[in-house]
Amino acid sequence: MAKLPSGEPVPTLGQGTWNMGEDRRRRRAEIAALNLGLDLGMRLIDTAEMYADGGAEKIVGAAIAGRRDEVFLVSKVLPEHATRRGTIAACERSLKRLDTDRIDLYLLHWREQEVELAEVLEAFTALVRAGNIRHWGVSNFDVEDMQELLRLPGGKAVAADQVMYNLNRRGIEHDLLPWCRRRRIPVMAYSPLDEGRLVRSLDLKRIAQQLGATPSQVALAWLLRQNNVIAIPKSASEAHVRENFAALDLRLGKQDLAALDRAFARPKRKLPLATT
Ligand SMILES: NC(=O)c1ccc[n+]([C@@H]2O[C@H](COP(=O)([O-])OP(=O)(O)OC[C@H]3O[C@@H](n4cnc5c(N)ncnc54)[C@H](OP(=O)(O)O)[C@@H]3O)[C@@H](O)[C@H]2O)c1
Repeated sequence: MAKLPSGEPVPTLGQGTWNMGEDRRRRRAEIAALNLGLDLGMRLIDTAEMYADGGAEKIVGAAIAGRRDEVFLVSKVLPEHATRRGTIAACERSLKRLDTDRIDLYLLHWREQEVELAEVLEAFTALVRAGNIRHWGVSNFDVEDMQELLRLPGGKAVAADQVMYNLNRRGIEHDLLPWCRRRRIPVMAYSPLDEGRLVRSLDLKRIAQQLGATPSQVALAWLLRQNNVIAIPKSASEAHVRENFAALDLRLGKQDLAALDRAFARPKRKLPLATT
């Protein structure tokens, strides 16, 4: 389990939903995959108003119907809605699509110049007070953005930063990851399989074979071994969900980690935050 700054435990392996809700023909498979993930214990589900223009939130709403209390639900507000009133209205729309009365963690999806962080914070604080969201956080924030956030009134209540982090994209190890760790702010690693690219990596296939595991399991285990890192792979395939869940049982030894460092180099200097 990871821990929010409040001390609340959160599952380290969750489920992403980007690209879900786009095609009616895939609806049943997507709901079944999310339900299987919940059955197995991948109880955190990550979605956003942006995904399929609300379609992914509707899929999630259908998947968690009747089992809301099992789920730690994460959704996100788009920067274009991120004014004081706009954030609250966007959250209300998300709650309707998700068919629930609360979001466990509500994130600002990314930062744009015109977004007034202080206003978003006011909206998040009002939403927490009203019980519509339990925690709030940010996404695609680098160290400087986080520092600015923490200087604002109420900013220290930030509960997570969701950023791209995987074996191919290790830039945050240089500064953001240790910065968050020192402040006990969990990092949610999005695109943990590099949008599927890592599954096809020859280097990773070789290392996985030696471990009797699959590339996706090694990629996820590599993230999950780290304190307070949450991984949210997306899969609409039940076989892939089972495979990904088994990553929780895979232990990587010193030599395995060294082999991964040789194949997927650590950053030697500050890199711009990777984004999709
Ligand atoms: N905050 C942000 O700005 C942001 C940006 C991007 C993503 N995210 C979140 O992070 C989640 C995950 O990232 P992502 O969707 O970009 O990419 P990802 O999880 O790294 O990769 C997803 C791709 O990998 C495939 N896959 C999953 N498990 C597999 C397995 N065991 N074997 C083979 N292929 C497998 C999936 O296909 P199948 O469905 O066929 O399994 C899908 O094509 C998103 O869904 C979203 O919730 C957030």
